[in-house]
Amino acid sequence: MTVAYACGKVILFGEHAVVYGQPAVAVPITQVQAQATVEDAEPGEGITIIAEDLRRTYKLEEAPPDDPLRVTILNTFRRLRLSPKLDLTISITSTIPIARGLGSGAAVSTAIVRALAKHFDKYLASRAVSELVYETEKIYHGTPSGIDNTVIAFEKPIYFIKGSKAEIFWVGRPFLLAVADTGVQSPTKEVVEDVRRGWERERERYERLFEGIGKLAEKGRRAIERGEWEEIGRLMDENHSLLREMSVSSPELDGLVEAARQGGALGAKLSGAGRGGNMIALVTKETCGRVEMMLRMAGAKDVIVTEVR
Ligand code: PMV
Repeated sequence: MTVAYACGKVILFGEHAVVYGQPAVAVPITQVQAQATVEDAEPGEGITIIAEDLRRTYKLEEAPPDDPLRVTILNTFRRLRLSPKLDLTISITSTIPIARGLGSGAAVSTAIVRALAKHFDKYLASRAVSELVYETEKIYHGTPSGIDNTVIAFEKPIYFIKGSKAEIFWVGRPFLLAVADTGVQSPTKEVVEDVRRGWERERERYERLFEGIGKLAEKGRRAIERGEWEEIGRLMDENHSLLREMSVSSPELDGLVEAARQGGALGAKLSGAGRGGNMIALVTKETCGRVEMMLRMAGAKDVIVTEVR
C-alpha cells in the first residue's frame, strides 16, 4: 500500500488578474491536506476509485471521460508509461474544504499523481506533477491560470505569471494568516466566466483593474521578501478593494474582511475566486485570538490560523 499527500493553498495577491497575464502570489497551507492511497487489487478487478468524503466508489472504466479523478489517473499512467489495464484500488480523502478557494481539486489530483508515481517506484519532478495536475484543473476551472497546481506541486511560496516559469521566493519574516470560511461554495469556473463577461463589456475598466492588481502582487512579493508586515497588510486591503470593483466579493466576504480589520488584522482580503469561499487576514501572535473571535462572531464557519514561512 502506498500513501501520498498534498497541501492546500491560498492566493495572497492577484487572483483573476492572473488569468489575464498579471503576476500573482500564492502560498501553501499545510494544516489541511489531501491524501491518496494506492493498493494492488485482485487480478481482473481493474481500477476502483474510492472517494471517501463523497461516499462514492466506482470503477474507472465506468466513469465519464471528464471525471477529474479518471483524467488524473489515465494521464499519470501515460506519463509514467504504465498500462491502463492495471488492477488497483485508489482511495482519496481530504481535509481541504471543496470549492472554497483552498485548492482542494488540485490537491486531490496532486496526491493521486504522487501516490501512483511512488507505488510504481517512478520519479516525477514537481514541475511534471504540476503539468499533469494542470490538465485536470482545466476540467474544474475551464481556463485555469495554473497557479493552483504550481503552488501545490512545489509546496513553496510562488510568484506566478501564466505561461512563464513560476518563481519560488523566500519569506523574509514568517507571518501568520487567519483563513476564514464564509461557508458559501463558489465554483471558480462560474466566477471566472463572469469576470470574462465583465471584461468583454468594459475592457478598459477591467484592464485597469487587472494592471492595478498586478502591481500590488509585485509589491506584495517584495514586501514578503523584506518581511514588511504593515506593507503586506496595506497591499492586501488595496487588493480587496480592486476585487470588489470587479464584483467578485460578496456581503459575506466583505463582512468577514471588516470584522478582521476591526479585530486588529494588519490587512484582509478575499482569496481565490470570490463570491464565497475564504478570506484571509494578516495577523500577529498578539492579534490572532481577537481576530479569530471577531471572524467567528461575524459568521465565519471555520477559521484556520497558519504560519507562512
Ligand atoms: O481555485 P481558486 O478558487 O483559488 O481560484 C483560482 C484563482 C483565479 O485567479 C480566480 C482563477 C485562476 O485560474 O487563476
